[in-house]
Amino acid sequence: MAPDGEALLRFPEGFLWGSATAAHQVEGQPAQSDWWTWEQIPGKIRDGNTAERACEWWAGRYAQDLDLAQSMGHNALRLSVDWARLEPQEGQWDQSAIERYREILRALRSRGIEPMVTLFHFVSPLWLADKGGWTDEATIRRFEKFTERVVESLGDLVNLWCTINEPNVYATYSYLLGIWPPEKHSFTTTFRVIRHQLVAHALAYRAIHRLQPEARVGLAQHLHLFDPWRPDSALDRAAARAQDYLFNELVLSAPADGILRPPLAMNVKVPELVDSQDYVGLNYYSRDMVAFDLRQPGMLFGRRFAMPGAEYSMDGWGEIYPEGLYRLLKRLERYGKPIYVTETGLPDNDDSKRPRFLVTHLAAMHRAIAQGVPVKGLYFWSLVDNFEWKEGFAARFGLIALDITTGQRTLTASGRLFGEIVRARGITEAMLHRYAPELIEKTPA
Ligand code: FCB
Repeated sequence: MAPDGEALLRFPEGFLWGSATAAHQVEGQPAQSDWWTWEQIPGKIRDGNTAERACEWWAGRYAQDLDLAQSMGHNALRLSVDWARLEPQEGQWDQSAIERYREILRALRSRGIEPMVTLFHFVSPLWLADKGGWTDEATIRRFEKFTERVVESLGDLVNLWCTINEPNVYATYSYLLGIWPPEKHSFTTTFRVIRHQLVAHALAYRAIHRLQPEARVGLAQHLHLFDPWRPDSALDRAAARAQDYLFNELVLSAPADGILRPPLAMNVKVPELVDSQDYVGLNYYSRDMVAFDLRQPGMLFGRRFAMPGAEYSMDGWGEIYPEGLYRLLKRLERYGKPIYVTETGLPDNDDSKRPRFLVTHLAAMHRAIAQGVPVKGLYFWSLVDNFEWKEGFAARFGLIALDITTGQRTLTASGRLFGEIVRARGITEAMLHRYAPELIEKTPA
């Protein structure tokens, strides 16, 4: 048994304790982008808000959030740059935006916080969207150029890069389900967008290493679990496997073996894609059960639903399933790379479930680490309540609560707990007792 206050589930030396944000979700004063144009159309955003103010980082309020991050013991933060701001017209660069990002990065470094910078997190400059955005093959080269420019401008302050956030989510929401701009419903376009993003990732990976050989580069993969509703049913198992293949396996295998599998392409091997990540980034939120259903040909005969009777976050956001994080980390072990949990979190507007979520998900990570999986850091989603895409501010994810009227920040109970965890370098017995007593017998003394 560990002495009082000392972690029972202790994390390795050098572990990165951080949270994640994205430019459009926190900055405010948006540039001309596809998202900014779309969200101003009445009815698009659930609570009627836009990202006009967001968390006012661009107006300088990032400093308050970074102070709070520091007080929570953060030694890492994942943030993104906004392509629309940096390159407002094709080939034209806004030097003042570069300077502002440099200021934010310096503010991080001066607080002992190591940045991970994402180059594309869902938002395209309007000029790019007008040319078809990621449906246009030429965007692969445009992104490569953009990457080079960003690395030349910020590389002295950044070592850890994340090329693209969640190609599968981006393509599915924007081009298959039609929930996000440009609201398309096309299977072929969806997989074209993913293919272009994977190849763009590969070229960006090579470009970054040319300019900055010591950089560490990866991408953030959103993996969702699909479990057969009746594990003894071969049809349910096949339906679950089909969903897993299309959503997870296609994007996961490509940056390892370089192969674009159907329906991305007919098993085409892209040389630049082979071994194109220095770490594997995992964004994990939830799982679905899948039952075979002849009435759902569009979903490959898989009906998806949340596990009945489970613990849930907010309506429609699915099951809280920490075991899934453990299972996915074990799955990622085969790539032989360091792993960062580049996002995990939950919408929880009154912060009532987040403390337990933190403890159970860190315990799941610890279990994987204890079994030899090289998990090197956590970027909790999110540092501060922010503009949650179509939900606006209706779904709050922050360790810091934001009053969107006054801009006032308050550290939540989960934020305070995050700080205690970092100070203890892990989960103490008292934390388990309080938040996850069911894990106590399972924890080796
Ligand atoms: C992820 C996104 C992130 C945020 C969280 C809740 O899929 O990368 O921007 O919206 O979900």
